[in-house]
Amino acid sequence: MIKLKFIILFLILLLQLISIKINCENFKKDKISKHVFGRLGTDLNNSLTLDDQIKLWIFFNSKDYVIENKKTTTQTPVNQYQQIQSITGVNDDSIKRRSKRSINKKVPLFDETDLPVSEKYINEVLKDCNLNNEILSIKLVRKSNWLNSISITTHDSLSISSSSSSSKSNEKFQLNKVIECISNKTFVDSIDLVSKLLNPQPSQDEIKEITHNRFENRKINNFNNNPISKLFGNVKLLSSVQDDSTMNKKFDQSFYGESFQGISQTSIDKLQKLGYDGYGMKIIVMDTGFYKDHEAFKYLKIIGEHNFIDNTNNTQENPIENEDPRYSQNFHGTATLSVLGGYIPGKLVGAAYNASFLLAKTEIVEGEDTVIEEDNWIAALEWGEKLGASIISSSLSYQLYNYPEMNGKDSHLTKAANLAIYKGMIVVNSMGNKDYSIFGAPADGENVISVGAVDSSGRYAPFSSIGPTSDGRIKPDIMALGVGYYIALSTSRSSYTKVDGTSFACPLVASGVALLMQAHPDWNTQQIYQAVLSTGSKASNPDPYVGFGVFNALGAHNFRPSVGDCFSTGCSNHGLCCSGQCQCASGFYGKQCQYKRVECGYRCQYDFNSVCQSNNLGPSYTCVSQNDTSNAVLNQDPFSILFCKKTDNPSTTSPKPSTNSGGLIRIVISL
Ligand SMILES: *[C@@H]1O[C@H](CO)[C@@H](O)[C@H](O)[C@H]1NC(C)=O
Ligand SMILES: *[C@@H]1O[C@H](CO)[C@@H](O)[C@H](O)[C@H]1NC(C)=O
Ligand SMILES: *[C@@H]1O[C@H](CO)[C@@H](O)[C@H](O)[C@H]1NC(C)=O
Ligand SMILES: *[C@@H]1O[C@H](CO)[C@@H](O)[C@H](O)[C@H]1NC(C)=O
Ligand SMILES: *[C@@H]1O[C@H](CO)[C@@H](O)[C@H](O)[C@H]1NC(C)=O
Repeated sequence: MIKLKFIILFLILLLQLISIKINCENFKKDKISKHVFGRLGTDLNNSLTLDDQIKLWIFFNSKDYVIENKKTTTQTPVNQYQQIQSITGVNDDSIKRRSKRSINKKVPLFDETDLPVSEKYINEVLKDCNLNNEILSIKLVRKSNWLNSISITTHDSLSISSSSSSSKSNEKFQLNKVIECISNKTFVDSIDLVSKLLNPQPSQDEIKEITHNRFENRKINNFNNNPISKLFGNVKLLSSVQDDSTMNKKFDQSFYGESFQGISQTSIDKLQKLGYDGYGMKIIVMDTGFYKDHEAFKYLKIIGEHNFIDNTNNTQENPIENEDPRYSQNFHGTATLSVLGGYIPGKLVGAAYNASFLLAKTEIVEGEDTVIEEDNWIAALEWGEKLGASIISSSLSYQLYNYPEMNGKDSHLTKAANLAIYKGMIVVNSMGNKDYSIFGAPADGENVISVGAVDSSGRYAPFSSIGPTSDGRIKPDIMALGVGYYIALSTSRSSYTKVDGTSFACPLVASGVALLMQAHPDWNTQQIYQAVLSTGSKASNPDPYVGFGVFNALGAHNFRPSVGDCFSTGCSNHGLCCSGQCQCASGFYGKQCQYKRVECGYRCQYDFNSVCQSNNLGPSYTCVSQNDTSNAVLNQDPFSILFCKKTDNPSTTSPKPSTNSGGLIRIVISL
């Protein structure tokens, strides 16, 4: 193990429990989110049909955890460090990544978000609030250490056949009681619905051609079986080179085959020519399932996998004969994985074929829809982060948050994504294929790299979802090929096809970012984000259709990101540097206020039936829900930048810990 120097600082804030006022209402309404009322009605009695399963988030206000103070412990720092590591399950690779890639060195290697959710609280909820489990029972589904929450499902214990209207209303009443019981707990901070995201499968014409060309495949295999030295006498063979996996990498069309278009359009080939292939980078891919037996994955380094639907560690489903490939559980994940790490030189080459992969199966294919529940996605993200992943590639798109909530902070997915970035990961997410309709969380996250699709000539693909976020930030961030993308098809070991979708542009950018991170081990997440945006083909003139333009891997590689805080970099004349952080004027955002917001207007009012936040001091940049009077206050005072506010740090990249009362623990350990 590496020699470690520790500075350990524990601040234990033991907040006294504030005695809860006895409320004349039975349940604590302020703890229950508007989504819950939206679904179940304000009396929690309505809109529930018997076979609906309700999935709820329960957020706790404390981890109920106290780590011994340094003064009172006899342990050495090394022991304490190891103890914290074993409690949190964060591995050495993850710690290395955190220390290298976090936005600033002040970010602690561990903090309270790493600590496990309190088992005591979980047990108390499950025990006390399973009030009458003959009618309706609750079951634990997921725990999120980062959000300090659990998700539960309700199960009706009555069989459908015996259901009468009276048992039905009984059940509703029961749900009401369960929610009341949970909200009564002093350690419960809030209750919300777990959002289900629907991601429709590509339509018929999006599957362009399904090839089962056995001749072509045989040709490839024969080609690969030739010893390299016979084909290319002057190739220097590395001792670690495996059998037929390597051919002379000329990094031209003959090497990339059908993958050439997307790879050359983003100049990823140029980075590969410089010797970057993703080696040493860990990428977590979240998707429907992966047909690992496909020939394109023969050399793929899979270092871990987890099925978050069935809680197994196999992410591959047995192919079903004669199944429509689009509705196969393996289809989507196999396709995105092949864009990242497929390797059949001369035919299909993924842009980060030499990276290591963590595969997470989080989405369920139900007929024409793919369903993903955000608690599974967040669980997968926490899993990958702990295991040391540096990049996440997530091609989920359509979702059920309202547009005003797409502001980079409201959705639970985006909160988790922001936290991953804070811990030094790069999150790459597809925008979705819904053109003018809403785009998907967490693509609204401020430093999430959100990817839209272009065609082979770099033109906007008309299905690619557009931004901006409801607070006027440009999304998508960057574009890549998403039309006629050549992918591995899960119907057989040697099937391929061409598909359309931002789902395929996303892994291409994610793998390009993997090469960038390999090339620049000292760049933090902010610098990577800046390099990607600043070198896109439309960087000087971004818009909500194509963001900062087509991804330029070589440009980003050669970019010199700004170093240090705003005392050295300034705030682009659009803000004031306050304690090292820019406070931007209302029309600007970004670490150095370098990006201009899009004014709130047509899209807010007509596409999403919402309203621009009133602002009589200048243009509005914020779209809020029509009924949201609480938000309709003036918080965009352009003069506020004239002095440094003493308020909280506005940056979304350093989220506040989820624990806000109780035994809050601050752990600061630096190497
Ligand atoms: C909710 O349902 C319960 C049980 O059916 C009933 O007693 C109660 O009056 C209902 N509340 C409202 C506001 O309808
Ligand atoms: C919740 O607390 C109130 C008093 O604040 C009490 O009347 C009610 O019975 C409690 N409900 C449950 C389900 O425990
Ligand atoms: C992956 O990288 C390692 C180390 O650089 C190298 O030995 C190996 O040949 C590479 N694999 C492929 C398929 O190029
Ligand atoms: C998962 O994989 C590990 C080895 O990596 C094995 O020990 C364990 O039994 C597997 N679990 C399941 C549920 O298959
Ligand atoms: C706003 O309020 C009206 C009436 O109270 C309601 O019908 C509508 O669904 C609400 N809209 C939203 C977006 O909450």
